[in-house]
Amino acid sequence: MLLIRLQEGRGAPPLHKQIADQISFQIAQGDVPPGARLPASRDLARSLRVARGTVVLAYEELCEARICVGRVGHGTVVRRSHDVRAKPPSAPELKPSLATPDEPIDLDPRELSLLPSMADTDYLPRTELRRAFDRVLRFPSHLRAFGESAGEPRLRKLICQRILSERGIAADPTQVMVVPGTQYGAVLVAMLSAKTRSRVHFGTPGYLDIARNFARFGFDLISHPVDIDGMKIPSSLGKKDVLYVMPEHHFPQCVSLNAERRASILGMSQERGVMVVEDDYDSEYYYDRLPQSALKASDNKGNIVYLGTFSKTLFNNLRLGYLVADPSLVRELASLHWSLSRGTSGLLQRWVGELLEDGTLTRHVRRMRMVYRRKRDKIAETLRRDFPEWQFTAPRGGLQFFIELRHSSEVAMIAEICAKQKFRIASSANYILSGQEKLGNFLVIGFGSASLPQILSTLSELKKALLTR
Ligand SMILES: Cc1ncc(COP(=O)(O)O)c(C=O)c1O
Repeated sequence: MLLIRLQEGRGAPPLHKQIADQISFQIAQGDVPPGARLPASRDLARSLRVARGTVVLAYEELCEARICVGRVGHGTVVRRSHDVRAKPPSAPELKPSLATPDEPIDLDPRELSLLPSMADTDYLPRTELRRAFDRVLRFPSHLRAFGESAGEPRLRKLICQRILSERGIAADPTQVMVVPGTQYGAVLVAMLSAKTRSRVHFGTPGYLDIARNFARFGFDLISHPVDIDGMKIPSSLGKKDVLYVMPEHHFPQCVSLNAERRASILGMSQERGVMVVEDDYDSEYYYDRLPQSALKASDNKGNIVYLGTFSKTLFNNLRLGYLVADPSLVRELASLHWSLSRGTSGLLQRWVGELLEDGTLTRHVRRMRMVYRRKRDKIAETLRRDFPEWQFTAPRGGLQFFIELRHSSEVAMIAEICAKQKFRIASSANYILSGQEKLGNFLVIGFGSASLPQILSTLSELKKALLTR
């Protein structure tokens, strides 16, 4: 009935706490119904190979939290009257499996990539890119010295005018810092905030690489479920907490935060000093409706750090992104960035500045929105026709399909077929923590990187291979 995975070793939470947290999480999810009796402490202790006293302590904690009741002669029972939704118990604190995906992805050139998070480079406007680069090289003296560690002033101004305004953010260049990608920006934020904060909250399945960056600087990782309204927001956060969210397209499910959860986040950041890290990595790509404004647009206390990137609007390998924060935080982050790498490449910044100034980037994004919409529609049609068992909603934006399967054996079978036929496909294990395998019955199919004919022929081969199993 219960699925409990214990972690041991340095940094793992106490065993009784892990047990209590995982049971309360399963009760909240509805996996253990009200009135159910928990296993006898002796039996659970035996199956988990822990001392009985550890399980007794965990049960006592559940009773104290009014999630269960302990009755002499009846054991420990899930409360019937307990409204688990009214007061969500803390979700299990689990360290991510650092062994899984936080490694460079070396693509074998013979493999076809259906990995998500990659932009289609076939449509890059190469003539305009070349011309812009030539314009930068006309003034080599500008490249001689290190630039400002917060980024080239002209690019920061253009980011405010051409990008942030589209997201409803009225920032000036003192609030903007250019970084070599969102990942790097998040590392800087984690390094600095580790002085005063100790927990990072995030949704799973989700993009775990940012949470991992926080873990590297000693943060406890606390994962929360995600449903069709985005990440379920814990209600009791405070000054020690960092909340990592992707409000517009939670990755990889591509669900958006609803109004109530957005309001709750804004309330917590303004009234209780919660630091919010808003990852707005691909909201430029929307197909059916305009995106909501960024949360940062409503931040009047400066507790939201906004992260944006050129990885999807140009290409991943560019390594250029930006963050928006309070000017005092930008100064601190910039000083850290200076000591780490003497700022971000001036050449790239000037080049992208040219592309923003002359409108190339805006035109490219507009065009790609159409290209991706067409890909999305065609893939959705094919999936509905050829894989009627697969559950999915055509994404309203972003660059990937999130497909729920019935059984984990299907996920494993598809992974095996893809490996054999040399299609690179993301493993669902990339998006869940160790111990959350129950959440992993899904596929993520990116449609950014491969061309539409390639994707359709891959799906057709996958269908054939599945039929012959
Ligand atoms: C959700 C999400 N956030 C952040 C990033 C990282 O972006 P960057 O390339 O700017 O580091 C990615 C990468 O693909 C992503 O999918």
